[in-house]
Amino acid sequence: MKDLPAQPRDLDGNPVTPGLPMAMLAEITHRCPLACPYCSNPVELTRSQAELPAEDWARVFREAADLGVLQVHISGGEPGARRDLAQIVESASAAGLYVNLITSGIGITRQRLEELDSAGVDHVQLSLQGIRPDMADRISGHPGSWDKKMGFSEWVTEIGFPLTINAVVHRQNMERLPDMIELAESLGARRIEVATVQFHGWADLNRKALMPTREQAAFARQVVNDARVRLRGRLVIDYVPADHHAVYPKACMGGWGSTGLNVAPDGSVLPCHAANSIDWLQFENVRDRSLSDIWHLSDAFNAFRGTEWMAEPCRSCERKNMDFGGCRCQAMAIAGDARATDPVCSKSPLHAQVVARAEEDADADTAELIYRRMKKGG
Ligand code: SF4
Ligand code: FES
Repeated sequence: MKDLPAQPRDLDGNPVTPGLPMAMLAEITHRCPLACPYCSNPVELTRSQAELPAEDWARVFREAADLGVLQVHISGGEPGARRDLAQIVESASAAGLYVNLITSGIGITRQRLEELDSAGVDHVQLSLQGIRPDMADRISGHPGSWDKKMGFSEWVTEIGFPLTINAVVHRQNMERLPDMIELAESLGARRIEVATVQFHGWADLNRKALMPTREQAAFARQVVNDARVRLRGRLVIDYVPADHHAVYPKACMGGWGSTGLNVAPDGSVLPCHAANSIDWLQFENVRDRSLSDIWHLSDAFNAFRGTEWMAEPCRSCERKNMDFGGCRCQAMAIAGDARATDPVCSKSPLHAQVVARAEEDADADTAELIYRRMKKGG
C-alpha cells in the first residue's frame, strides 16, 4: 500500500473532517440471471459461499442508520437471487432506512413482490436494456427478459410502489432514447435514470461495442434537456452524461468518501463500486470492524478526502472543490495513477489521448458483446 495520510488535509495542511454518508449501496449478491455487458460489477465476481449472511446485513443496516445513512439501495447482481431477500429487506426497514430495491425484475414473482412490500421495500428501481424485445433480450443476454420485465413493471404499479426506470445508454441503443423516456412514462414511472455506460468492470471489456460517438452524446444531452422541460412535474430525469466527450469530469460519488458507501457481497466496504480496481488500497470488512470505524478511520476512505493528495493541475484549479478531481477509478484505469487528474478533464495532460481513444472505440465496426458471466460454481 502506498503512503496514505492518517488524517486527510486540505492544501494548507488543515485537517478535514469527513461528512456523514446519506446513502448506502448494499450489493447483497453478484449472482444474476442477466449477463449485461456493461455491468459495473468487478470482473472477479464474489461467489455465493462468500456472501454476507442476512444476520450480518441486519447489523450493518443498524450501524449504517447510527452513522447517519438515510437510504439503502439493495442491489447486486440481482438481489432476487437471494432466497432471504425479504429477511434482508425487513432488517433494513427495521433499522429505519428508506429501502430502494434495484432489480432486473427477473426471478421475482408477484407473490414475492407482495412479500417484499410487507417486508418494507419503499421504492423499486427496474432496469431496462432496450425498448423492444429483440434489443432488450440481446443486450441482457437473457431470452424472454423483455416480457418478464413488462409483467414485473405492471405488478410494481399495481402494488403501488413508486417506480424508477434505470436505462443504461450506449452506442447500440442511444438513438432510441426518446422512445425509452416515453416507455418509462407509459409504465407509470415517476423517475428515469438515463446513465451513459461507465467503462468500469465488465463494461471496459466492451468499449469497442458500446462507446457512443460524439454525435450520439450530443443527441442524448439534447433529448434529456428537451424532455426535462416537456415532462416537468410528470417524470424526473436523472442523467449521467458521456464523460469521455465532456470538458470537465463528473464529481464521482459526490467526492470520495463524502456522501455514500458501498458494501460488497462479501462484506468489504468500498467508497465506490469500482474502488477495488485501485490495487494498492486495502478495503476493510464489516465482519471485522464497525461501519463507523471504517467510514471515519480506514485508510481506503481517507485516501482521497480533502485536497492535499491532489496533483497538478487539480491542486491549483478553481474547480477542485466542485468535481474533486473527477473519478479516482478512471484516473487509475487510464493514467495508471489514482491520484492523477481524471484524464477525461480537458486540463489533464492525457486528455487528448483519452478523446482519441474514445473516438477510435466509437468508430469501431463491431457490435459483438462480451457478456458478464460468473465462472462455474458461483
Ligand atoms: Fe476538476 Fe482537476 Fe480538471 Fe480542475 S483540473 S476541472 S479540479 S479534474
Ligand atoms: Fe470510483 Fe469514480 S468509480 S471514484
